[in-house]
Amino acid sequence: MAALPVREVQDLIVSTVKANRVTVVMAETGSGKTTQIPQILLEAGMAESGGIAVTQPRRVAAVSVARRVAEERRCSVGQEVGFAIRFEQRCSSETRILYLTDGMLMRECLVDDQLSKYAVIVLDEAHERTLNTDILFGVLKSLVQTREQPLHLVVTSATLDGDKFSSYFRGCPVLTIPGRCFPVQLSHLLEAAEQPYLQLAVDKALDLHLYEEAGDILVFLTGQAEIEQAVAEITSEIANMPEHDACPPAIIIPLYAALPPEQQARVFEPAPDGCRRIIVATNVAETSITVDGVVYVVDTGVVKQKAYDPHTGMETLTVTSISKVQAIQRSGRAGRTRPGKCFRLYTRADYDQRMPAETVPEILRTSLQAAVLHLKTLPLQVDVLHFDYMDAPKRGALEDALRHLYLLGALTREGAITPLGRLMAQLPWSLCWHAPCWLLLSWTAWALPSQWWPCSQPNPFSRGTEDPSRRKAWVIMFSSSASFRGGRPPTMPHPGAPTRGCL
Ligand SMILES: Nc1ncnc2c1ncn2[C@@H]1O[C@H](COP(=O)(O)OP(=O)(O)OP(=O)(O)O)[C@@H](O)[C@H]1O
Ligand SMILES: [Mg+2]
Repeated sequence: MAALPVREVQDLIVSTVKANRVTVVMAETGSGKTTQIPQILLEAGMAESGGIAVTQPRRVAAVSVARRVAEERRCSVGQEVGFAIRFEQRCSSETRILYLTDGMLMRECLVDDQLSKYAVIVLDEAHERTLNTDILFGVLKSLVQTREQPLHLVVTSATLDGDKFSSYFRGCPVLTIPGRCFPVQLSHLLEAAEQPYLQLAVDKALDLHLYEEAGDILVFLTGQAEIEQAVAEITSEIANMPEHDACPPAIIIPLYAALPPEQQARVFEPAPDGCRRIIVATNVAETSITVDGVVYVVDTGVVKQKAYDPHTGMETLTVTSISKVQAIQRSGRAGRTRPGKCFRLYTRADYDQRMPAETVPEILRTSLQAAVLHLKTLPLQVDVLHFDYMDAPKRGALEDALRHLYLLGALTREGAITPLGRLMAQLPWSLCWHAPCWLLLSWTAWALPSQWWPCSQPNPFSRGTEDPSRRKAWVIMFSSSASFRGGRPPTMPHPGAPTRGCL
């Protein structure tokens, strides 16, 4: 097979990265950005003074890409190539290329603000504009200028606005690498469909299974419930097909973030001979990953996305239209190991006129408190109101976030982070809220007189006549509560633990 497009310009990549503190690399989906650029930099000796960290927006991508690159370098995962995701790390002192989620790199900033074990940091899939990646943009933009030991930053994507990124990173060079792996034939609906998108997607998957040549099918839906429904419908339709349709066998595989890792890994197992796989996935399969065998992509044009209503202060998950960037990423899941086809279940006019060009950055559709808390924990003395955001949130929203964090006890009146704030920053944001709740509950329980306790139970915390062993039991229960510690058994590593022993 011909070399991947990125490999063909490897000398140019090395010379540009070496000569600049920040380089933006744009190349088509499947051209080798994620798997090849870190190897090219390693082979050029750029990992001598430190390792190469490559961020991924999702865990499944970090793990699958690390496995692929380890295979290419003929080593086991955890040796020269490793990964670090929340709850799981496979890396060692031998590791030179580390794939990690952007959240893990953010947490590393908390323990080592100089990120001194890395010589190169690749912020991959930068178009996703997750909250963590956006904060990392600002933190690393400053770090590449100030760190004594040289640090090189490479920002990569198939679909980003090169000029915008270049002007944000002080006019850094943008390498645009032409060429793609295999062609992908696109088709749109001729007119808008009347059926719901779930039904359309199921029908299209069945149609492709019956009438298209060999090759796996990847269908994009928005969430777990929909995916389970689609899997059940496709399975039962195939089982009930009349004999004369000569329906070949198929394995239907769901893929979404909440699935246990071993079930997620099923999508990377090859299908038995003569059997087609139909993978029904959320946008976890949209970027970065290569599912070997996928030839057909069915794109419903919708995604479940976080939105924030500043009037109610509520965050919601809403089914909304994808952006053009997401549509391009989805089609890019076909044509990676052979030519592919992408069937868009919307019209060309929808694509041209209705879809926004880019996904709104998460920082502009989130409550900002998590972002502000993270910024406050960094030992960089970040002034959140004047932080160097690529797309700055409104000043009023930032002030609201500061006020809320102060009311929760995460910040002092002067805006400095409190011990409780530090604890909250170590937890996933959805669990952070439990920290002040548990503390308040514990304090109330301690302070209340016995007669106020329900069901005539003695107050286990009061300093009166109650049995001290009972009080101790309650304290242990509170302090070891799974919610409080991030919902994991006590023997597992802490979610925020830095990649100890790596690189
Ligand atoms: N697990 C895999 N199995 C088979 N081939 C793979 C695998 N991973 C990568 N490849 C091959 O390597 C190529 C480059 O993959 P890579 O993930 O580096 O592309 P990319 O440029 O990062 O794409 P994207 O923009 O979609 O993230 C793929 O197109 C595919 O041909
Ligand atoms: Mg990639």
